[in-house]
Amino acid sequence: MREFLARYMPTDASAHGQNLDTISALVHWLMFILLVGWGLYFIFVLWRFRASRNPKASYHGVKSKISTYSEAGIVVVEAILLIGFSIPAWSRWVEPPPAGSNPIEIRVVAEQFAWNVHYPGPDGVFGRVDSSLVSATNPLGLDPADRKGADDILSINQLHLPVNRPVIVRLSSKDVIHSFALPTMRVKQDAIPGMEIQVYFTPVRTNGEERWEIACAQLCGLGHYRMRGFLTVHTEEEFAAWLGENAPAPAPVG
Ligand code: CUA
Repeated sequence: MREFLARYMPTDASAHGQNLDTISALVHWLMFILLVGWGLYFIFVLWRFRASRNPKASYHGVKSKISTYSEAGIVVVEAILLIGFSIPAWSRWVEPPPAGSNPIEIRVVAEQFAWNVHYPGPDGVFGRVDSSLVSATNPLGLDPADRKGADDILSINQLHLPVNRPVIVRLSSKDVIHSFALPTMRVKQDAIPGMEIQVYFTPVRTNGEERWEIACAQLCGLGHYRMRGFLTVHTEEEFAAWLGENAPAPAPVG
């Protein structure tokens, strides 16, 4: 069953992905049963109330209570899926990773039509940003006067993460509503101008040779189709090397 579904789903490489895929599969099975069940019932009703046997139209139709009981049964199953599976999964997902789990925190700022990724750098603190400083060469509006931002790392459409470490993404948008979608991480969250929304996930394996996408899942303008980035999940050593390569040279002290 799992292999069967895996053929039709993107690679799942996140800690919470299996849970979400199970719920998705259960909902699809319910929908499949409903489709077949109501389809058969429809055919039965067409036959049962055919004109040759019912020269005079019956305004009461089916007298059996079976369809009513079925509907009640469906409501119960849907309530179980919602209350027993979906809400608990959701409440786990919106819970920030515990501080002891050493989460990595990054900012992702969407714009027409790119993903700006902001790393706090070795000091672990994001430099101050100010929307009035945003320009073509300073896409995030980093304040050059703030020393904490001197070691910050920016990348465009490239999200690099270490494996097996919880990720906190602080998501926002510079212009319109976008949707930050990482199919392999089973993450999809709207990026809304004026709001900062946090999303959490943990990559559980590296991407290896696979190309993992950042997709924009909300129609956001003419360039929506090309608002695409890539996610690279590194081993811890590779990630440290990547950070080292991309960190700006230390500012002269003085
Ligand atoms: Cu951004 Cu679609």
